[in-house]
Amino acid sequence: MIDYVPLGEIPPEAVEQLLDAAFGADRRQRTAYRLREGVEAIRELSLAAVHDGELIGSLQCWPVELATENGASPLVLVGPVAVRPDRQRDGIGRALMTRMLEAADRQCEAALMLIGDAEYYERFFGFVAPPTQGWRLPGPFDRHRLLARIAPGHHLPAYGTIRPRANL
Ligand SMILES: CC(C)(COP(=O)(O)OP(=O)(O)OC[C@H]1O[C@@H](n2cnc3c(N)ncnc32)[C@H](O)[C@@H]1OP(=O)(O)O)[C@@H](O)C(=O)NCCC(=O)NCCS
Repeated sequence: MIDYVPLGEIPPEAVEQLLDAAFGADRRQRTAYRLREGVEAIRELSLAAVHDGELIGSLQCWPVELATENGASPLVLVGPVAVRPDRQRDGIGRALMTRMLEAADRQCEAALMLIGDAEYYERFFGFVAPPTQGWRLPGPFDRHRLLARIAPGHHLPAYGTIRPRANL
């Protein structure tokens, strides 16, 4: 049986090993990492999948904000989502995301974003590209992979810069 537990229960070295296995050791060059600098993952929205005492999946979320000249709107940056290569395509990524989204809804997080494949994140979880097309990030990215999931009735500026948000 797979257990889904808070990521804080897992030794950080094990998480780093899993991320290297899923994304490659050059993953730290990615622009998403610039958005995590100086802040801590959101504990309630960061989860691990564990089987027989081994880490097989992880998901971290981070506090960011969309800054404009009129102020800043908070968002949750989702990712990395990682499943150990030998356990991929077996529902673990979906289970991690579903649990995280349920917790985010409970916390009334109205806006989440990520950089990832729409074929996965739109199809299963409703993250879409149109709201993000005027947003800037601190580094290169594929615009069609910048996705957001915004609660009905909640509005975010069409233009602005995504940057880390200080943990409260
Ligand atoms: C992407 C990832 C998190 C998905 O988790 P997973 O447990 O392997 O996938 P799931 O079992 O939840 O979902 C399987 C379904 O999603 C599809 N899928 C998985 N990854 C996909 C991708 N990158 N693009 C499109 N579809 C994808 C599969 O085809 C499958 O669809 P089907 O049910 O119609 O056959 C995982 O494969 C992974 O860690 N990949 C490497 C790291 C990565 O790219 N992370 C995402 C960026 S943050």
